[in-house]
Amino acid sequence: MLGIAPLARPEISTARLRLVAGDAGIAPAVCEFQRRNRQHFAPWDPPTADSFYTHEAQAARVATGLAAFTNDTAYRYWLIDATRAGGARLPSSDVEVIGSLHFSQVSRGAFQSAMLGYALDEAHVGQGLMTEAITAGLAEMFSPRVNLHRVQAAYRPENVRSGRVLERLGFRQEGLAPDYLYIAGAWRDHVIVSMRNPSFIAPDGW
Ligand SMILES: CC(C)(COP(=O)(O)OP(=O)(O)OC[C@H]1O[C@@H](n2cnc3c(N)ncnc32)[C@H](O)[C@@H]1OP(=O)(O)O)[C@@H](O)C(=O)NCCC(=O)NCCS
Repeated sequence: MLGIAPLARPEISTARLRLVAGDAGIAPAVCEFQRRNRQHFAPWDPPTADSFYTHEAQAARVATGLAAFTNDTAYRYWLIDATRAGGARLPSSDVEVIGSLHFSQVSRGAFQSAMLGYALDEAHVGQGLMTEAITAGLAEMFSPRVNLHRVQAAYRPENVRSGRVLERLGFRQEGLAPDYLYIAGAWRDHVIVSMRNPSFIAPDGW
């Protein structure tokens, strides 16, 4: 459970998904999600050691994520299939995690921005689920509750499917960043894209 009320809602429902910040009980399902998809994510994600796939490491990751959610430094949602029996109301300890959506590196001051990362279980791609999840997550980040001005994402040019998700959502290309992230054994170029919030509310004093 989250202690202090965070700015973002800890649970959001879409037609087919629940986006949940979760609680400590969700860690085993997160661990299974990461284990199942280790090969699927490897070409696009930072390298991970075997120790990343242990229950202890994932429990610590979930705890860190929950603290960040409360502190307005990062908002990670786990994706749950709401169309499965019980999916719309199961407690964290009984759910299957099928994806993640992460608004990280929240920066306030003059920037008011965050970095978007996402990943979907291999068995669930090609149904428009990530488009559905990001649409709901972005609406939350751009709502008066969180009030970010900009969300940035980056993808490898080879990741055609990921590029299509962002294009479909209306992210604008800003350029190609050479040697941007260390992925799959080398520094990889990334396409940088962003979305700005037309409804951003200027804080007092601006
Ligand atoms: C990139 C990734 C998140 C895309 O997930 P996804 O759910 O397939 O993406 P979308 O929501 O955009 O789904 C669109 C696809 O579903 C199809 N689709 C089916 N029903 C749909 C519907 N109701 N609405 C929209 N699209 C639908 C579309 O035709 C499209 O297919 P295509 O990608 O072959 O053109 C997923 O492939 C993934 O996790 N990959 C590995 C990790 C990764 O790449 N992370 C991002 C790093 S930058």
